[in-house]
Amino acid sequence: MKVAVLGAAGGIGQALALLLKTQLPAGSELTLYDIAAVTPGVAVDLSHIPTAVKIQGFSGEDATPALTGADVVLISAGVARKPGMDRADLFNVNAGIVRNLIDQVAQTAPKALIGVITNPVNTTVAIAAEVLKKHGVYDKNRLFGVTTLDIIRANTFVAELKGKSPGDIEVPVIGGHSGVTILPLLSQVKGVSFSDQEVRDLTKRIQNAGTEVVEAKAGGGSATLSMGQAAARLGLSLVRALQGEENVVECAYVEGDGEYARFFSQPLLLGKNGVAERKPLGNLSSFEQQALDGMLETLKKDIAQGEEFVKQ
Ligand code: NAI
Repeated sequence: MKVAVLGAAGGIGQALALLLKTQLPAGSELTLYDIAAVTPGVAVDLSHIPTAVKIQGFSGEDATPALTGADVVLISAGVARKPGMDRADLFNVNAGIVRNLIDQVAQTAPKALIGVITNPVNTTVAIAAEVLKKHGVYDKNRLFGVTTLDIIRANTFVAELKGKSPGDIEVPVIGGHSGVTILPLLSQVKGVSFSDQEVRDLTKRIQNAGTEVVEAKAGGGSATLSMGQAAARLGLSLVRALQGEENVVECAYVEGDGEYARFFSQPLLLGKNGVAERKPLGNLSSFEQQALDGMLETLKKDIAQGEEFVKQ
């Protein structure tokens, strides 16, 4: 297995690279790419960790050397939020970066499973899909918006509130990855129950958890370490599924049948070709149903912005 991280010199990229260097199966290859000149050095640094994962780093304008032969590509290149900024404020810079990198992925690793971390995910995934389409290599089962951070946050907050071990809690989070489009399905969490007030408060905290970090870092960026862990979780799940492991299920933001919006995060069964099955959402509480109905206009607008960007 070969995994490429694009944006690898950044806060997320370095944390993600560290976790992949220590957790990818023996015999895997890991390549790091970033425009920043330090990237080969980051790879040299990580190469001293004694695991059977071969690592190389590349910098400059050309991602091709990192992408050649990649089975999984994880993209965290782009600018991060500062206090007072919304994820949508990142669009102007990050849309072009994602377009450029996906152009290169389409040409060099058209069969790779792609995970887009760069915000605004609701929109950058639509950009990625349209660029892949232009190259005639788009496969909706191979493109993922990474929403795993919302899931691990939800697991942590629920475990804290209910005095459970975080490893025992798994909260499905559906929709998109910003504000009201983030919808944790608390009614489906096994082994715990919530009052109506707890559901309202937890949902809000999960939706605003990114801002909690942005404000706490006070200008120093957004979530990087927890995001590195989240991206490693999804990346390693993709690798396990590619290697034939069964029953690998993760929530991610993918193109589905369009029942809710063209792109929608929901539980996915992963397989050797990416998404093997989009799992049903299951029963929603009336609070969740209302939140789902209420998010769709925002989500569709975010998606349309990405589609328009590539058309222009
Ligand atoms: P950062 O600023 O620490 O790192 C970004 C890296 O991207 C830098 O090393 C920069 O040199 C590189 N870069 C910029 N343009 C590039 C290009 N054209 N090609 C290759 N590399 C390029 O930012 P951080 O904190 O790592 O965040 C990265 C992105 O991830 C941001 O867009 C942020 O909003 C997003 N993010 C997504 C989350 C999610 O849940 N999906 C959670 C947190 C952040």
